[in-house]
Amino acid sequence: MELRCLLLNIVFISVVNAMLAFGFAPQDERRCSYGRIEKLMRIRCYNMDLKEVPQNLKTSVEVLDLSYNRIRKLRSGSFQRYTDIKFLMLYENMILSVEPGTFAPLTALQEVDLSNNGLTTIPMELFSLPRLRNLYIDSNDLRELHQELETLEKPIRAPLEYLNVANCELHDIPDLGVLPNLWQLNASANPLSDFNIDKLANLCHLKVIDLTRTQINACVCQQVTNHLMTMGANPKFVPVCMEALDSDSCPLPYNRTVDSPTFRSCVDSAELAETRSLWLFAAGCFGGVILVLLVFCYCIHRWRKKRANRRLSQSIQNRKRFVISPRNTINNRLEDEPLHCDTASA
Ligand SMILES: *[C@@H]1O[C@H](CO)[C@@H](O)[C@H](O)[C@H]1NC(C)=O
Ligand SMILES: *[C@@H]1O[C@H](CO)[C@@H](O)[C@H](O)[C@H]1NC(C)=O
Repeated sequence: MELRCLLLNIVFISVVNAMLAFGFAPQDERRCSYGRIEKLMRIRCYNMDLKEVPQNLKTSVEVLDLSYNRIRKLRSGSFQRYTDIKFLMLYENMILSVEPGTFAPLTALQEVDLSNNGLTTIPMELFSLPRLRNLYIDSNDLRELHQELETLEKPIRAPLEYLNVANCELHDIPDLGVLPNLWQLNASANPLSDFNIDKLANLCHLKVIDLTRTQINACVCQQVTNHLMTMGANPKFVPVCMEALDSDSCPLPYNRTVDSPTFRSCVDSAELAETRSLWLFAAGCFGGVILVLLVFCYCIHRWRKKRANRRLSQSIQNRKRFVISPRNTINNRLEDEPLHCDTASA
């Protein structure tokens, strides 16, 4: 009796062990959760010990949260099935490398968060994505970035509006050419020993720049502050400049920033994009109006034709009746008249 009990126990324990080993039991709580956020299809797979981007998710995912996992490498096929992704969270992983072609299929991508990983550079193909607006890559040791940027084709295609490179061991802000849409740049907690005011000429619509916890010197501090004031931007996150330096020791920044040809070209390209979109909008409206008019004309034409047909057939009927009716009336009258006469005589 006891032996049987022991055997049963052993069998039970080994079955449970086997189930655990094959991942039966934990799988239920490990499933990514599906939901919606502002009408976008969201899948959250955060904090699940994932080592790879899962390939069994719905392909129509638009917001994909893979944060707090253990992904080390992004592969060229990682996102091939998920081309609708607009927002991608990959922060707090262990990403050390990104294969070329990983992000290329994500042509709808608007925002990517790669902060707190082990990257040494920004994957250059991100800058070719046609819709990418927001890029978070803070808290990575981007020691190879400067060198990689030398071969990047500028201006970049991505319409970047927000860039966070805080805490990335950078000695200068990244040179991405003119960024006419960029309004916020966060470069705090970087050494920035090579920072030069000329770089800001590329950012003609900058509203906020965070240079706190950097080692910029008193002159750069003053120049940045002056530059931001003339642009009407927010100097809140520039370290407070302690001493007021005169323009002999610290020249005013304007001929290198707002008065420079680079700044002009940045403004022009922004205006060009605006007029282009305005033209596209106008053309779209015009096309729409023309289409409506065409449909209207067609309908009118159809209606007229129908009416004409109806009239024709009516007139044919009328004519038939007209042709026939006199005889009818005559016939009728011939039949009626005696009656009339009868009543009259009566
Ligand atoms: C810049 O980024 C750091 C680190 O992510 C953050 O703590 C800080 O609040 C950011 N600054 C601004 C102005 O958003
Ligand atoms: C800006 O002006 C200063 C002094 O007026 C001059 O030394 C410097 O060369 C100018 N820089 C540029 C880029 O024109």
